Amino acid sequence: MIPVNEPLIGTNEHKYVLECLNSGWISSAGTFIDDFESTWAKYCNRKYGITTSSGTSALQTAVACLDLQPGDEIIIPTFTIISCALAVIYNNCTPVLVDADKDTWCMDANLIEEKITLRTKAIMPVHIYGHPVDMDPILQIAEKYNLAIIEDAAEAHGAQYLHGHGTSKQNWVKCGSMGTMSIFSFYANKLVTSGEGGMILTDNVNLANKAKKIRNLCFEPNRRFLHNQLGHNFRMTNIQAALGLAQAERIDETVNIKRTIGSEYTKNLKDIDRIKLPIERDWSKQVYWMYGIVLDHDDKINASDLALQLHSKGIQTRPFFLGMHQQPILQEMGFCNDEQFAVSDHLSQNGLYIPSGVALSEEQLNQVCDTLHEILN
Ligand SMILES: Cc1ncc(COP(=O)(O)O)c(C=O)c1O
Repeated sequence: MIPVNEPLIGTNEHKYVLECLNSGWISSAGTFIDDFESTWAKYCNRKYGITTSSGTSALQTAVACLDLQPGDEIIIPTFTIISCALAVIYNNCTPVLVDADKDTWCMDANLIEEKITLRTKAIMPVHIYGHPVDMDPILQIAEKYNLAIIEDAAEAHGAQYLHGHGTSKQNWVKCGSMGTMSIFSFYANKLVTSGEGGMILTDNVNLANKAKKIRNLCFEPNRRFLHNQLGHNFRMTNIQAALGLAQAERIDETVNIKRTIGSEYTKNLKDIDRIKLPIERDWSKQVYWMYGIVLDHDDKINASDLALQLHSKGIQTRPFFLGMHQQPILQEMGFCNDEQFAVSDHLSQNGLYIPSGVALSEEQLNQVCDTLHEILN
């Protein structure tokens, strides 16, 4: 079976993790935490990095740092993972959903402004499957309405965005460098993994200090075991950070491999006219975190039929996200009205992703392409 993803574990991963074991620094104290935080913050051109136990807890912490009131609203894409909605709901706020752009699959910036109310406090753009969201219009809206940006770059390590594209002042910036607070996931299928883990990045020292406090049970600095605020144990361990640091040190190589896999897939699959492939807008350098393919809506098979056929030929796939508006629990809690999200629905029904991990061999990639040609041509 060709797996959807397999991590690449190098010699430094072994070396650094062994260092933790041999030194006894195995909990959330230890030098690898600081090293991983500063290395990743520097790579993304940010001042502060705060590790967390997962991308989900990074999102929850980031929202908690905004000191919002119950019922305040945060605008999120409907086509994303539930972690985004959870971060809002666990902070007693309301997620307000926006449909996806049909080409990038990220939140459609044109649909945001109509969702703004007096209660809107933040926007949470998510770079879906490694392609950047068009951030300029979102940053402009945030400035106009004085909103925070929680940038979810969980799937977009090393992806780049041409900030100011279409103007005379444009420059390439990393995903994760644009939010008031930006977050990453380091789950095992990400370009940089610590097994499980996450990080918040920010340039604001107050937000950084708040995040550190919230992830560590909100101990008061002058009196341990005294609490003026409710926190969480969202700490990362030194062992996870050791793994993450070794991976982060190889990010340029990993991005190159992923971009090669992406362009090879596109080259080999572009003549199958029944499927739509990931795009790369000229204002983006995407990293193909997962290489998604989307069948036409009137095709005789849908994504789950195709997944079964690929599975029978030894190829693993994963379905696309199901929109937040389709989640029974969120409907039950009253977070969705009968609004339609046609693009998200189309993607959920007709999209899946094929093996795209950094360890994918050329032979495996060719086998996936040949099999797709066999089934779909
Ligand atoms: C866009 C996005 N945000 C957040 C997360 C949550 O990250 P984690 O699985 O580390 O909790 C994920 C996980 O894949 C994700 O894809």
